[in-house]
This record gives sequence, C-alpha cells and structure tokens, in this order.
Amino acid sequence: KGKSRIVHVCESCGYSDGQWWGTCKHCGEIGTMKPFTTESANRKVSGIQVSENVVRSWLPKEAGGPTPIKLTDVYGQIDESNWRIPLPGVFGAEVERVLGGGLVPGSLVLVGGDPGVGKSTLLLQIAALIAEGNAADVPARAIYVSGEESVEQIGNRADRLCIKTEELFLYSSTNIEDILEQAKRLSPRVVVIDSIQTVYLEGVTGSAGGDVQVKECTSALLRFAKKTNIPVLLIGHVTKTGDIAGPRVLEHIVDVVLYMEGEKYSSHRLLRSVKNRFGSTDELGVFKMSVSGLQGVPNPSEMFLSEQHSDSDYLAGLAVAVIMDGSRAFLIEVQALCVAGSSVQRHVNGVQGSRADMIISVIIKQAGLKLQENGIFLNVVSGATLTETAGDLAIAAAICSSFLEFPIPNGIAFVAEVGLGGELRLVPQLEKRVNTLAKLGYKKCIVPKSAEKSFTDLQPQGMQILGCKNLKEMINTVF
Ligand code: TYD
Ligand code: MG
Repeated sequence: KGKSRIVHVCESCGYSDGQWWGTCKHCGEIGTMKPFTTESANRKVSGIQVSENVVRSWLPKEAGGPTPIKLTDVYGQIDESNWRIPLPGVFGAEVERVLGGGLVPGSLVLVGGDPGVGKSTLLLQIAALIAEGNAADVPARAIYVSGEESVEQIGNRADRLCIKTEELFLYSSTNIEDILEQAKRLSPRVVVIDSIQTVYLEGVTGSAGGDVQVKECTSALLRFAKKTNIPVLLIGHVTKTGDIAGPRVLEHIVDVVLYMEGEKYSSHRLLRSVKNRFGSTDELGVFKMSVSGLQGVPNPSEMFLSEQHSDSDYLAGLAVAVIMDGSRAFLIEVQALCVAGSSVQRHVNGVQGSRADMIISVIIKQAGLKLQENGIFLNVVSGATLTETAGDLAIAAAICSSFLEFPIPNGIAFVAEVGLGGELRLVPQLEKRVNTLAKLGYKKCIVPKSAEKSFTDLQPQGMQILGCKNLKEMINTVF
C-alpha cells in the first residue's frame, strides 16, 4: 500500500533527515532544511527502504531491450564502438593518457582526492575542453552540476580559468533525478557531478553522503550513462583513511577510478588511475596548479628535479624511497641528521624505532661508518609513515649522506630491504615502484643486485637501474 513519508533535506548540502532541524546537522547552515514528501509503495529490501518508482525510472526497459549477439557480429562493430571523446592540447593529453586514450562514451568515471586538491578545477576544465570541441565535430555540449557551489561560484572559477565556450552549462542541484532529467534534456557530450557526497535520490533513506545514498546515486548514474551513452564524471571526496567516502563498493560500481593527489609544498598534482575498465591502471598524469588553473606537464622530470634541486643543493641527509599503498606507488623522502656529540642518542619520526636501530647497527658493523658517537635523527617528510622494509635502503642512504656530509645527487631513489649482513634484499612489486620513478623523471634507482637482471630487457625509458650487493657497494656507487 502506498504510504507517504516526509524527509527533510538540507538545500545547502543535501543532508536528509526524518526530522526537521533549524540548523542542518551536517553542514551547520541555518534554515536550509526543507520538507520533501516521498509517495510510493515503500518496500523493505535488506533493511533499506527503497521506493520502487524512483529506482525503476532509471532501470533499462525490460521488453525490447538488446538480445544476445554473435561474437563475429560484434567484431564488425568494434571500430565504431572504440571511438573515444578526444581531449586535445597539453592539458588534455595528460587526462587522456590516464583515461587510457580519451573518454569512453557511456562510462562512469570517479575522480577522488582530498578536499582542496583541485578536483572541481580539473573537472571544470575537462568539461570546458569537451564543450569547446573541434569545429568538424558535432556540436558538443557539457554540463557541470554542482551540489557544493552555486552557479555564480562556479562561474567565478570558470572566469579565473578563462573559459569562454558557449556550450558549457552550469547547474546547481543535489537531487539526482532532477539532475539527470536536466542532463537528458540537454543531451550533452559529458556530465560532471560535483560531488557524490552531496547528491541524493528521493525515496532512498539515509542522508546524502551516507552509504546507502552514495551507492544508490552511483547506481542511478551508471544506469543513466549506460542508457544514454553520455559519460558521467563523478567527484568523490576522500576520507582520512584514504578511501573515497562512502562504501568501498562505489569503486566496484564505476568503470574508472582516478585519484588526484598533491604533494606537500608544491604546486604539482598527480592524477592516477587505480581502476580502468578501458585501459591500464599504471598511468599517471602530471599537472601544475597555476593562477589560471591546471596545466599539463608533458615532461615531469624537469619540474620534479628542479624543485628538488634548490633543496639538495645544500642538504645532505635526504633520500627518496618508494612505498606501495595497495597497487599505488608513492615516493617519500627520508631525512636524516647525524650530530656528533649530541646528548640525544636517537630520535625517529615516521619510521619504526626498532627498524631504525637495526639499520644503524648494520651501517656501523657492515659498512664501517663510525656512527657510534652521533646523535641520529630520522624524519619522514610530510608526516607519512614508512612501514615497509622496502624503505630500508633509503633510510640507510639518508643516514650515510648526513654522516658523510655528502648530498645525494638529484634524481636517485632507493628501493631495497637491508638484511643483518648489510646485504640488499628483494622487495615486492619492484617493477611498479621503478616504473613510477621513471614516469616522474628519476634518472637512477638503486636496487638489489639480484633484481638488476630482470630489468635488462625492460629498462624503463631514460632510467638507469643500479644493482648493489650490499650497503658498502651502495655507498661506493652513490657517494
Ligand atoms: P578545487 O578545485 O576547489 O579543489 P577540490 O574541488 O578538490 O576541493 O581547488 C582548490 C584549490 O585550487 C584552491 O586552494 C585554489 C586553487 N586554485 C588555483 O590555484 N588556481 C585556480 O585557477 C583555481 C581555480 C584554483
Ligand atoms: Mg570542489
């Protein structure tokens, strides 16, 4: 039986609640909670209230839909269906590469990243790029929908980015059905939704940004994309734990997951694919955030190395390690300071104390460096924590560099575990780590001798792999 229910939804952030609140419990805005009536035969599905008419409206039609097709007939269609929306220019090239060569029509792409990293800027620029299209192409429209900012605020940003195209439409809304209705009416080449945490589907319980809403909204967007063949780019904020807020299941629903990352104290931004149904997940796009938005960096080596240059010109005691987070490789910088006659013996930050003690003892015993009378400080830059043994060699190199007062030359990274005999040992996913270094313009990587061979056939472009048996060899190679 039909039963109407009233939910109160905050106009500002999309938070919904069974009760009315004078101040939104989610965003704190005053007087923004507005009542909405959901009329439908609510049914309970595994504890979740789902309104049938809402969910059904974006489901594919049951009759008259596609039927199974012969594989050999599919081959004939491949060329045509392989078409991707091109993204021209230097900026576009970076995005295109991460996507695996252009935006696939009908795909749902999730772009995650910390607040403030530049997701809105990136997607506004992509939308504008597609809207600008090229003369020979069919008129391409783009629609940028924001549940976070007003049309004026987006306009302001677009003005700063010098976007002039007449084919870019802005819309501020948090209601998914309303958004998709508008999108369908405009029939654009691309839809951008900023962000998944602010949109809601009427009739689905839970607040916007909550697990159920995020999942249902994403599913609705996926059905929309598949049904209309219009690609949808979706922004998602990342929580402190590093997951895109909401259920992990979100990553399984979408076709492509991209993460945008910024390095501290620097204007460069990295875009990497962690899931891609249409391409490789090892791709990396590099951008620079400027006053007029994101600029593609086709040759990252210059940028990365020049930024480091000013530092390591005077600084001994810095070494770069590569750590893995799931399938993603990250560079982190280890700093060491050796002070003769210091009253503090050892102080470590971001490195396991026992591991540091072991590495220091190995350097003393196996490499013959007289660290005994030194106070040793270890720090991992930007507050990251080095828990992998793959960072051992970078820790050792940083200590040696500081002790010998010899800065490590630019563009060298260290990837190896250090054993008690001072020997360098293999670490997991070495190839991935080395490839990330190569893409970022590093020129040399110190690896265990036994791993050197595996790189002879597939030496990453422009990169030298240096195998060392033990710490002594590493010191002779680098210093
Ligand atoms: P934004 O895209 O709002 O980040 P997100 O959507 O991920 O939260 O970008 C935030 C930062 O980018 C902000 O600190 C200002 C900076 N920025 C520039 O430096 N130049 C620009 O042209 C723009 C538009 C933003
Ligand atoms: Mg934003």
